[in-house]
Amino acid sequence: MLQQFGNGVSVTGSGSAKLTTQLDNEALSQVVDTSDEWIATRTGIRKRHIAEEGECLRTLAAEAAQGAIDLAGLEPGDIDLIILATSTPDDLFGSACQVQAELGASSAVAFDLTAACSGFVFAMVNAAQFIRTGVYRNVVVIGADLLSRWTDWTDRRTCVLFGDGAGAVVMQASDRDRLRGFELRSNGSMNSCLNLSYQSQPKKLVNDVAIQQGTFQPITMNGREIYKFAVKRVPEVIEKTLFRAELTTDDIDWLVLHQANQRILDAVAERLHIPADRVVSNMAQHGNTSAASIPIALDEVVRAGKVKGGDTIAVAGFGAGLTWGAAIFEWGK
Ligand code: ACO
Repeated sequence: MLQQFGNGVSVTGSGSAKLTTQLDNEALSQVVDTSDEWIATRTGIRKRHIAEEGECLRTLAAEAAQGAIDLAGLEPGDIDLIILATSTPDDLFGSACQVQAELGASSAVAFDLTAACSGFVFAMVNAAQFIRTGVYRNVVVIGADLLSRWTDWTDRRTCVLFGDGAGAVVMQASDRDRLRGFELRSNGSMNSCLNLSYQSQPKKLVNDVAIQQGTFQPITMNGREIYKFAVKRVPEVIEKTLFRAELTTDDIDWLVLHQANQRILDAVAERLHIPADRVVSNMAQHGNTSAASIPIALDEVVRAGKVKGGDTIAVAGFGAGLTWGAAIFEWGK
């Protein structure tokens, strides 16, 4: 039987993991033929964080989740559901249950969700459905990725872009619905533009039966196509979400986009006529952390005391799949 909570959705806490090892552009120039000048001019990235020995997706995701749970004023035992958005789990069967155990969130059901760099937005919307139907009251949504595991460190076109990280939010049932709108999209016909694909060789097992075994291959990307896709589709999906929410761009206090490239952020903000001081950017410090980038950026502005209760936040993710999507919510209980 469904329990009767408020059917509204609030976003009440945020957290992110602290990774200490940093790889700046200068150091990266010793790995591939590149320069701080090229990377900074084309992407806005100055450095990225790399998971150290002993740090894994489970521990970083749990650290981010614990931060969000604390800020929301809850205990791990209060959590009903954990959704872990990741493309780089410790275990291909899923890492969310490992995070549940690490947190001691013994009442929570936990599962992974994969939608690459859009994963966090997709997971937030997913969480909202469980809250709106009255099934769950307190949900942790985590975006965590260790792309350094799957980066081709000999390919200067991609390895300069990515970093590791984890961020999270708590979403709760509330009387007033603070999730104003969302819009999610996919286009599998452009899948080949960005892949971390499994490749196998046939291996004869017995008689006529051959199995296909191999491993995932490092990230490949058509950077130009992804760039064109992002600057066209992201403003579109935000405009659609604003329309659904009966809001305009003037109502957005904070635009938190997936941190892929400063030029993409600038182009999207310009197209939407959103001034730069309302666009959150931490790319210079983190690079592209895939599903983690939006919750890390959000947590940084929240913890800096910039985001006030009731502020309207637009988040938008885009990436492999291809997938893209946006959500607009008011911060706080
Ligand atoms: N250092 C120095 N030179 C480089 C580097 C580098 N790291 N990388 C490429 N170059 C060179 C190229 O070889 C090329 O040289 P050439 O003209 O002699 O052939 C030149 O720079 C231009 O290369 P382009 O690939 O055309 O550079 P572009 O201006 O398109 O910038 C970039 C590349 C930064 C990747 C851009 O296309 C981009 O940001 N695209 C979007 C990527 C993105 O957002 N991905 C997120 C996906 S999210 C997810 O789901 C994982």
